[in-house]
Amino acid sequence: MGLAGSPEESQERRTKRSHLSARSPNTFRALLTVPGGQRGSNGGSPDMVIKSGGTVVNQRPHSVVQGGIFWSSALEDASPEGFSDAQVGSWVERARTSRIISLEKGCGRTSNRLARFADGSKACVRYGINPEQIQGETFSFYLARLLGIKNVPPLALSRVSANSAQWGQVRKDLLGSQWPDGSIVSLTPWIDNLTDVVAPKALRSEDGRLRPLRADLENRTQAELLELMQWTDLIVFDYLTANFDRLVSNLFSLQWDPRVMQRATSNLHKTPNGGLVFIDNEAGLVHGYRVRAMWDKYNEPLLRSVCLFRRGTAGKILELHKLRNTAYELQRLYQEQEPLGVDLGPLSEDHAQLLQDRLDLVYKHITLCQAAYS
Ligand SMILES: Nc1ncnc2c1ncn2[C@@H]1O[C@H](COP(=O)(O)OP(=O)(O)O)[C@@H](O)[C@H]1O
Ligand SMILES: [Mg+2]
Repeated sequence: MGLAGSPEESQERRTKRSHLSARSPNTFRALLTVPGGQRGSNGGSPDMVIKSGGTVVNQRPHSVVQGGIFWSSALEDASPEGFSDAQVGSWVERARTSRIISLEKGCGRTSNRLARFADGSKACVRYGINPEQIQGETFSFYLARLLGIKNVPPLALSRVSANSAQWGQVRKDLLGSQWPDGSIVSLTPWIDNLTDVVAPKALRSEDGRLRPLRADLENRTQAELLELMQWTDLIVFDYLTANFDRLVSNLFSLQWDPRVMQRATSNLHKTPNGGLVFIDNEAGLVHGYRVRAMWDKYNEPLLRSVCLFRRGTAGKILELHKLRNTAYELQRLYQEQEPLGVDLGPLSEDHAQLLQDRLDLVYKHITLCQAAYS
């Protein structure tokens, strides 16, 4: 892919700045990040003008960036809220206590199901053929909460049992599910009106490779900028979890499908209010870590191509880097909030170390961006 730029590899280590800009003049970091003289300190909103037809357009692209590497607070304030703590709390309560009255095919692969609760609400039920899939799904959700990334749908675990109050009414449907009695499955809320998401133009070039142009921040609508901002979280999140089953799998497919970047990104959807929803995270943290050697050659350059961050995400990365306790904090949250966490098992020690290593690498990358652009 165009981001790796191996011929410049040794040269780019010479200085912090060249580390960030030598690979290609057209990378996300070089072109979305504001050069010294152009840096603006305002929040951005005065530069957002309403054009005819009501479209809000950004006329001074530097105003969307603060401190050289952060999305402006004006953009942050306008961002879709994502899944709030209150929504997560009410979902897990419902998912743990409500009776399931029907179980139908749906929500993707044949081992998944669409469940309906007695109150009429619906859930996607995911069964992991391999236990690492449900672990990955669950750890990814809690890591997202730990980082303050609110794009991952709420998740609760449930133990399937034909005799339990929760599953008893769909005993017959369970026979067709091929889930062994006693399996632990994950429940996420069904989200209406989701649409597909294609990687934003600012992340693509004509040849389908990721090559965002600095100029692409100009004349972008606020909605486009807000989406781009969420993509920067997605790239950090998928790097940390070594999730190859979203943008990275598109980059991989470029080898034989030059138009893949114009197709919908797998496991990513958008709500009508512009919120990105990172679904199906079963590749994260466990499976992804196991096969990371294969995917990091895509995942790592992708991370290095981003020099714009949400302040909250960068702040949390800094904190977890300093305290060196990412896996501990993740585990604490998961054991505290997920009663079936004990049964599902913890993140292994090796993977806990890998998580900290990956977080440290993200931290280092942010500091290099800061040194170069702040
Ligand atoms: N929580 C959800 N709300 C609405 N639609 C969903 C939800 N989860 C999955 N889907 C739909 O099902 C499709 C497949 O879901 P996914 O979880 O990726 O399954 P798979 O395991 O087959 O990859 C998604 O692309 C989406 O259309
Ligand atoms: Mg999927």
